[in-house]
Amino acid sequence: MRDASPQTIYLKDYAPFGFAVQDVHLTFDLAPSATRVTARIRFVPDRAAADRTFYLHGENLSLISAKIDGESVKPTLTDEGLTYDVPDMPFTWEAEVQIDPAGNTALEGLYLSNGMYCTQCEAEGFRKITYYPDRPDVMSTFTVRINGPHGTLLSNGNPVAAGDGWAEWHDPWPKPAYLFALVAGELIAHRDTFTTMEGRKVDLALYVRPGDEGKCAFGMQALKDSMVWDEKVYGRPYDLDVFNIVAVDDFNMGAMENKGLNIFNASAVLASPETSTDGNFERIEAIIAHEYFHNWTGNRITCRDWFQLCLKEGLTVFRDSQFTADMRSAPVKRISDVIDLRARQFPEDQGPLAHPVRPESFQEINNFYTATIYEKGAEVIAMLKTLVGDDAYAKALDLYFDRHDGQACTIEDWLKVFEDATGRDLSQFQRWYAQAGTPHVAVSEAFADGTYTLEFTQSTPPSATTPDPAPLVIPIAVGLIAPDGSEAMPTQILELTQASQTFTFPGLNAKPVPSILRGFSAPVVLDHDADHAFLLAHDTDPFNRWEAARSLARTSLMNTILKGTTPDAAWINGIANVMRDDTLDPAYRALMFGLPGQSELAAEIQRAGHIPDPDAIWVAVNTLKQALSDKISDDLGAMYAAHQVTAPYAPDAAQSGMRAFGNAILSLITRQDGGDQAQAQYDAADNMTQQLSALANLIRAGRGDAALSQFEAQWKDDRLVMDKWFGLQVMEAKPDDAADTAKALTKHAGFNWKNPNRFRATLGALAAHHAGFHAKDGSGYALLADWLITLDPVNPQTTARMCSAFQTWRRYDAIRQSMISKELDRIASTPDLSRDTTEMITRIREA
Ligand code: BES
Ligand code: ZN
Repeated sequence: MRDASPQTIYLKDYAPFGFAVQDVHLTFDLAPSATRVTARIRFVPDRAAADRTFYLHGENLSLISAKIDGESVKPTLTDEGLTYDVPDMPFTWEAEVQIDPAGNTALEGLYLSNGMYCTQCEAEGFRKITYYPDRPDVMSTFTVRINGPHGTLLSNGNPVAAGDGWAEWHDPWPKPAYLFALVAGELIAHRDTFTTMEGRKVDLALYVRPGDEGKCAFGMQALKDSMVWDEKVYGRPYDLDVFNIVAVDDFNMGAMENKGLNIFNASAVLASPETSTDGNFERIEAIIAHEYFHNWTGNRITCRDWFQLCLKEGLTVFRDSQFTADMRSAPVKRISDVIDLRARQFPEDQGPLAHPVRPESFQEINNFYTATIYEKGAEVIAMLKTLVGDDAYAKALDLYFDRHDGQACTIEDWLKVFEDATGRDLSQFQRWYAQAGTPHVAVSEAFADGTYTLEFTQSTPPSATTPDPAPLVIPIAVGLIAPDGSEAMPTQILELTQASQTFTFPGLNAKPVPSILRGFSAPVVLDHDADHAFLLAHDTDPFNRWEAARSLARTSLMNTILKGTTPDAAWINGIANVMRDDTLDPAYRALMFGLPGQSELAAEIQRAGHIPDPDAIWVAVNTLKQALSDKISDDLGAMYAAHQVTAPYAPDAAQSGMRAFGNAILSLITRQDGGDQAQAQYDAADNMTQQLSALANLIRAGRGDAALSQFEAQWKDDRLVMDKWFGLQVMEAKPDDAADTAKALTKHAGFNWKNPNRFRATLGALAAHHAGFHAKDGSGYALLADWLITLDPVNPQTTARMCSAFQTWRRYDAIRQSMISKELDRIASTPDLSRDTTEMITRIREA
């Protein structure tokens, strides 16, 4: 049973554990509903610690026996752990517990997924395996014996010995319990090897269920690429004799960096051209890199407490984005990241769930694996690198690894290495970690006597956790373009530190056009009426050129929505030129043609002092796309033909760019031919990118039924492809049909709602369908609430994450607000609601 009124944990209350853990021995006797776990742990009192209370976390455990130095003891069991009056000298703790992996639907701790045993311990799942000080600052070596009749028995570290029905593993690197992992099942290994820069030969394996062995090669290559990259760019070699990855079907997140034994959601690692889109390949490459990079940023150097989560996640997201930029196209990666930041992090930072990159309190840590911690956390590091420069960044990172290897650290430790490596005072910069909210930067300009002046004013809207924001250090990358389109001043980094600040640029012949916030040098909202059409034509910074197109589109859409004007010719003409410009990378051109998200437009409309109408936004977006399609209809056929890949399929940047652009054109063609070309592409497709894109167009054109049936018949046995089938129908539904479509799918025999991927594919797609979720009759709200209430007792973590669909509710009209409020009340008043969901709903309602 959970607490009725959950406890709040505060950063300021941090106190070290009163004991060091010298080593941990675990024995698992696996049985689906009655697994026995025997732990033998050596504790050494820490005489420096003020509090030497012996408290071990434990949840859902049946304690069979406990001993101290071989003598039976009877500890006091509490709701969430146990205490005992232990000797004030080193001692050995032994405990045997019984657990129920088969009954573990929350997918935290040890659980079964399609008959395979696996674990998820971050953040606080180890306490569901045995009694332990389950906190990241308690680090120890682990030795694990697994007894079970399975062909594959895996744990962290290096294999020590194995026989029929058992295996033993030893991890020599001290680690916190959240990095513990165990896997057992009948699995097939896809093997390879890698030799590190230190000459260590590492056996690599990717373990999958029989039938999936054809989907391993790409992930394995991504792993080897990641290993090479981390050696080359950060000087970080791998440190064990084996590196294992396991794919599991039921997983709350994307993947987990357990030491030497990464566990992946099957969707985040299995890939083949027939079943995976180009987007899937790119995501898989990035996630494999991310989890691998954690070996240094997260595992060798971990977090002191969960408030420091961005120390490992922000840094590792930053590292994986550098990797993707190197492997593929840097501008395309940057633009994609900013699209994602605006779609996921900005709404969080601007709504009731706003929190600093380093929060100061939480109730359920699982609710803080957020876009703010991850994506804004990565942006903060990108700014730091911009401010100190590439060389100083490299020096600071070397110092970080030297100084803190083997430690559990804080953001203060992280900033200190930058201060020591560069001599810079980062006390003001530290506010980026402490303050919530998206800063706004307003710009005004003046020109006189050959001197151009830019004045910047920053302000951060107050929020619940940051009622009184102070000025931040904001690096603003600026270039100046002369009226003839040539570059008058290459990119310079301006450091904005005051609420308001002026920068002058002398010696100019004419008033330039400024290109501000190049490369999106800071995660802010820029208020600036720039000459976007000019910048779209002339900006040399690829990010800002894209941003110019985006701003033109936004202005056009806002004018249509708020003033009823017809689509703006400046965007249509500018984009038409870009699309015909064959000197530009097709992947970049595909991005250029994208429109701001509908939820993002709703936020913009609210900022402008109006109430967003989701239907009107939907209509405006479709009208603008139709106008572009009409304008260049004569060219579309040739453009489409010129961007078909004839070479054998490869998921590389060049080919996927071609397909992305070809498919962007296909969507314009469908507006002209009603789906004939899409049907032809569907019938000829030999890869999922082409097949799925054609299917989306057919649904949009109102003629998807035959293809949907064919697709289902073709892919009914492939879980990951069927997730796409579930999701796409909701995504492409007309606003009035989205909730009905989702509801019908929840009645489909294949709707296994306990599987997080299938649940998210269906209901997550509804939540992401702006006009559909916000349908006037409230059907979207009601359906999501019904399913959150159903899922909560089974899987609180996934339920709570999806509550964020309601976080923007204060933007909308009174009728919608009252319908949402009713649903939030209905969820909140559900008996025995989990701590996870309670916290989310409470915070959202307090808006
Ligand atoms: N450490 C996390 C996985 C995790 C998150 C476990 C929350 C438990 C609770 C992992 O490194 C991670 O960040 N995974 C991301 C993908 C990554 C590419 C950003 C995920 O799972 O979404
Ligand atoms: Zn991570």
